[in-house]
Amino acid sequence: MKIAILPGDGIGPEVIAQAVKVLQALSADGLEIDLDYAAIGGAGYDAAGDPLPAATLALARNADAILLGAVGGYQYDALPRPMRPEQGLLRIRKELNLFANLRPAQLYPELADASTLKPEVVSGLDLMIVRELTGDLYFGQPRGIQVNAAGEREAYNTMRYSESEVRRVAHIGFQIAMKRGRKLCSVEKANVLETSELWREVVVETARQYPEVELSHMYVDNAAMQLVRNPKQFDVILTGNIFGDILSDEASMLTGSIGMLGSASLDENRKGMYEPIHGSAPDIAGRDVANPLATILSAAMMLRYTFGRDAIADRIEHAVKTAITQGLRTADIYTPGTTRVGCAAMGDAVVAAL
Ligand code: IPM
Ligand code: MG
Repeated sequence: MKIAILPGDGIGPEVIAQAVKVLQALSADGLEIDLDYAAIGGAGYDAAGDPLPAATLALARNADAILLGAVGGYQYDALPRPMRPEQGLLRIRKELNLFANLRPAQLYPELADASTLKPEVVSGLDLMIVRELTGDLYFGQPRGIQVNAAGEREAYNTMRYSESEVRRVAHIGFQIAMKRGRKLCSVEKANVLETSELWREVVVETARQYPEVELSHMYVDNAAMQLVRNPKQFDVILTGNIFGDILSDEASMLTGSIGMLGSASLDENRKGMYEPIHGSAPDIAGRDVANPLATILSAAMMLRYTFGRDAIADRIEHAVKTAITQGLRTADIYTPGTTRVGCAAMGDAVVAAL
């Protein structure tokens, strides 16, 4: 298993170090892994003047899977857009054609109190957001900022989807729904946007190949509301890039903390990039307080989706559960009566539980 490790910025290197500990513990048990490190984001800019250095992209292309920490930092905010850390992430997604972004939101029963929602609303929550990742407003052309005829600055982006782009991610959504609760809710804004009208048509066409999956449609504003009103009505949510970006942050808070959720970004051949949903959190970087569980759970997703090693993925997920059951909590999920630990100690606890 050739894995490219891209720690990135902020808390990225700290949380990645814990996931690597977990992988190394498994390799001591006979899992054959080959880890190679490269810089991305602000770290890429610092090392090579580019948030996605050519060497990093080459390493990622050659790897079977990529484990990424997070990118971004205040010191890069004033750089021209192409040099900003986020561009490294967007470009690697596009270059590797990682169009299907899987973002599961599951609540550990012990963390029900850490959620800002009432325990009865979130307990038992288990949903999967399938977000399209290489199209939409993020990549649509034309885009830019210009001075218009009235001498005023104006800015524009293009929301754009082709039917093949919608179809391929819809297939992933339906296939995942088949392995779960067989319900798929497609989220768009078809009452206003042509992009969404096409999205809905293609999803309906694709659904004919999955007659066992119960398909529903929801406008994104309603979906945002339903996610906090009654999140357990959802099994799989299938949505585009920008709506998925927003709804997945919202869904993460149902589980207590954005620090708990991993993600997978897959191409047509199950090659994938795995990363926590959270960002680089520069305000807490280097203080050993970040939650490494999202990154460790991302490594579990990597074993499941790219390498097909479900039993090992189960083992990692179980070890995370054990650490939580033992009452260990990083600051983001701490509640009175539990034991507060740092990032490295949480990683050690997961390794011990393995
Ligand atoms: C995410 C992030 C990225 C996105 C940013 C960092 C470019 O918010 O992975 O959800 O908008 O996709
Ligand atoms: Mg986001």
